[in-house]
Amino acid sequence: MQDNSVTKTAKLTIDGKEFDLPIYSPTLGPDVIDVRKLYAQANVFTYDPGFTSTAATDSSITFIDGDKGELLHRGYPIDQLAEKSHFLEVCYLLLYGALPTALELDDFESRVTSHTMLHEQMMYLFRGFRRDAHPMAIMVGVVGAMSAFYHDSTDITDPWQREVASIRLIAKMPTIAAMAYKYSVGQPFVYPRNNLDYASNFLQMCFSVPAEDYEVNPILSRAMDRIFTLHADHEQNASTSTVRLASSSGANPFACIAAGIACLWGPAHGGANQACLEMLREIGTVDKIPEYIARAKDKNDPFRLMGFGHRVYKNFDPRAKVMKQSADEVLDLLGIHDNPTLQVAKELEKIALSDPYFIEKKLYPNVDFYSGIILDAMGFPTSMFTPIFAVARTVGWISQWKEMIEDPAMKIGRPRQLYCGATARDYVDVENR
Ligand code: CMC
Repeated sequence: MQDNSVTKTAKLTIDGKEFDLPIYSPTLGPDVIDVRKLYAQANVFTYDPGFTSTAATDSSITFIDGDKGELLHRGYPIDQLAEKSHFLEVCYLLLYGALPTALELDDFESRVTSHTMLHEQMMYLFRGFRRDAHPMAIMVGVVGAMSAFYHDSTDITDPWQREVASIRLIAKMPTIAAMAYKYSVGQPFVYPRNNLDYASNFLQMCFSVPAEDYEVNPILSRAMDRIFTLHADHEQNASTSTVRLASSSGANPFACIAAGIACLWGPAHGGANQACLEMLREIGTVDKIPEYIARAKDKNDPFRLMGFGHRVYKNFDPRAKVMKQSADEVLDLLGIHDNPTLQVAKELEKIALSDPYFIEKKLYPNVDFYSGIILDAMGFPTSMFTPIFAVARTVGWISQWKEMIEDPAMKIGRPRQLYCGATARDYVDVENR
């Protein structure tokens, strides 16, 4: 953040002593108070568990207006990108900051495509896992293990190596996710086919078998591409912040992305798509909805309506709107007209949106509310939902990582704490305790 973006100053008074804190005005969003010098000047820390009011970085990649329900990538609204663009073009936009020309896009696509295969020796890693391992567990391990295979792209001080690592991750993630799936169902791994587009290639690696011909349905491939596009980046969320923090020590990129995958797995984050479909199935029929709504509102019940609520959106998640439309298209194409899960989802949405508890707390459906229905209709088991999110989010993690590494002001991330433990005391020998 440049000093010339200081527009105002905040005054903080502690014990009658006044401190001036610079305020920055971003291009979009609320002003930000700079507290970096506060500890040195006033000997106090700020306290903000969960980062609810703290900007951990400046960034030019993605912007969310939670009240309006707006998501912009490099300034472009997500609904326009979902409708008019496609995943690899959005990857280019996120990574390099501008929409590509036709020539640039062609070059980028061919660079990604030429990296889709995995080092053959990595197959042995998969075989070391139990067949019933969750595909996210396999992905954490295999992506981390890329550090052991691609030594020529782990020097983060070399821009060329950073570029190769970025392309490799975007290109290989679908292959890794598809292999994790194939391994879990006991089918042979399917190699990538570079004559297919990114989404179609992923579908064929998941669903084709050597014994039969497989043709990718273009509408399913379009829906897959849209799911990737809608999940591509989401500014400083938990997994992205994990990648940034891990990388701030100078760690190698593959290990840092594995850390992001681990964070994404949790049900409050990327794991919500699996949890949401499982919840919709558990509800089962429309008449059971009030029981679950009551549980969600009960302070003594830890149950939450999965696919509802968001730290930043206090309005409709713009991704959920596009996802809902895609769900209708995909089910229509597949001739699924009375899908009970979709019926429960639509009714649940209606009831929750008119319930004072959800209205008051501004809990709206998020991206995960409808994505599971589409993925389920395509034939994916629920355990693959979060790995698919990871495939899509890789470009976001990489773009944010790249932005951080290229920032000359980069510092190792080191939060402080409000210590509430014991004060200094003397060690007591075991026989005297
Ligand atoms: N169902 C019922 N009550 C909820 C829900 C929900 N899904 N979400 C939040 N609340 C309530 C919560 O109990 C709290 O009430 P009170 O103020 O009375 O204590 C209030 O709303 C605020 O919740 P919070 O936990 O302080 O909000 P947060 O910003 O820390 O959490 C969240 C955001 C997404 C973790 C949370 O809404 C949640 O657990 N949702 C369900 C999981 C989910 O769908 N996650 C996917 C998020 S979108 C994909 C992604 O980004 O990965």
